[in-house]
Amino acid sequence: MAEKPVIYVLNGPNLNLLGTREPEIYGADTLDDIAGRLEDQAQALGLVVDVRQSNHEGHLVDWLHEAQAMGAKAVLLNAGAFTHTSIALYDSIKAIKTPVIEVHLSNPHTRESFRHKSYVGEAAKGTIAGFGALSYALALDAAAKL
Ligand code: DQA
Repeated sequence: MAEKPVIYVLNGPNLNLLGTREPEIYGADTLDDIAGRLEDQAQALGLVVDVRQSNHEGHLVDWLHEAQAMGAKAVLLNAGAFTHTSIALYDSIKAIKTPVIEVHLSNPHTRESFRHKSYVGEAAKGTIAGFGALSYALALDAAAKL
């Protein structure tokens, strides 16, 4: 049987603390809760998700390269605060052909002005933000249709 298409779901700094981190902004779900639901959703869509988190920018760069090298069909990327600072992530997204969908739980545009700039968004295929954990589910649906 043919192998199922793989979608990388990459999460940046502080997202390991979801569930206890500012729940009034980010919700009560842990990253494991979100990953579990994405795995179920992926199975229903005939896909496989590979969900990862790192607090280190270089890991995200390496995983973006790996996504292309491994033939992933798309990447969902919540780069956390690196979204607003990282030219390295901008360059990585530009450097690979794998489509990258920017994901955020909150809507950065309704928050502090330093969150309004997104290097990730300037390189990504599209952005889904502001729907809490549902942002990931919507992004996976979008990835499935790419
Ligand atoms: C976030 C938004 C970022 O501004 C913030 O730094 C995060 C989380 C989100 O998912 O809403 O760490 O990416």
